[in-house]
Amino acid sequence: MKAVELNNVSMKYNEQCVLQNINFSIEEKDFMAIIGPNGGGKSTLLKIILGILTPNNGEVKVFGREPKHARDLTGYLPQNLSFDRDFPINVYETVLTGRYHGLFKGYNKNDKEAVLCALKNVEMKDLIDRQISKLSGGQMQRVFIARAIVREPKLLLMDEPMASIDPEMQRSFYELMSQLKNKMAIVLVSHDVGAVSTHVDKIACLNRELFYHGPVENAADGLEEIYHCPIDLISHGIPHRVLREH
Ligand SMILES: Nc1ncnc2c1ncn2[C@@H]1O[C@H](COP(=O)(O)OP(=O)(O)OP(=O)(O)O)[C@@H](O)[C@H]1O
Ligand SMILES: [Mg+2]
Repeated sequence: MKAVELNNVSMKYNEQCVLQNINFSIEEKDFMAIIGPNGGGKSTLLKIILGILTPNNGEVKVFGREPKHARDLTGYLPQNLSFDRDFPINVYETVLTGRYHGLFKGYNKNDKEAVLCALKNVEMKDLIDRQISKLSGGQMQRVFIARAIVREPKLLLMDEPMASIDPEMQRSFYELMSQLKNKMAIVLVSHDVGAVSTHVDKIACLNRELFYHGPVENAADGLEEIYHCPIDLISHGIPHRVLREH
């Protein structure tokens, strides 16, 4: 079964068309990046897959279900966390909310172990009791990465997880992703074309339309369509000049 399937999906905000006739799918163990310019529709596409937004046209299936009925299978890191940083909650409690089972259900021993494991993975175990109001931007981002993975989802969607993450942590983030990719489908939205192309297996290029969706090695054509300036694609350590000099 496919993790995600989109057929002829279109989306408008008011009268502005932001996604047009999107057809694509994500396999169960795919490790994919979605790249594209600002306003290209990347975050909108993730929200459609999550069932937060409903498209004007087309069909979306997540593990064969309606997106909103597949939420227990997905982990999500939003791009702009509209989160009250002064809310009196610590690192541990923040990640624990990622294991939420429903009102009055509480948390069990497995939940607590999963939180410890996720915090270890993002190297934040030392700050487990820290109030989130006292974290730096990058530490906060790590906590939210932990929260996205703590449910051990079958589909992990991360919208620019590398924002404010330092180079050392970026390396360990991609190491963590390479461990997780055997267990789940992973989709990263990123502007760092070079970094993602050395790590992911597939790239989708999105600028209202989806121009390319396939193995990294062949992504050059998609990049040429969506960006209007030269982009170097570094694929598995081999730099390609994507746009030819005129
Ligand atoms: N709630 C909304 N109401 C109206 N327009 C919106 C809304 N959300 C997004 N848009 C518009 O839809 C388009 C796509 O936005 P989206 O956030 O999906 O882009 P993006 O590819 O994630 O961009 P970025 O790289 O800047 O994060 C943009 O032109 C944006 O202004
Ligand atoms: Mg976005």
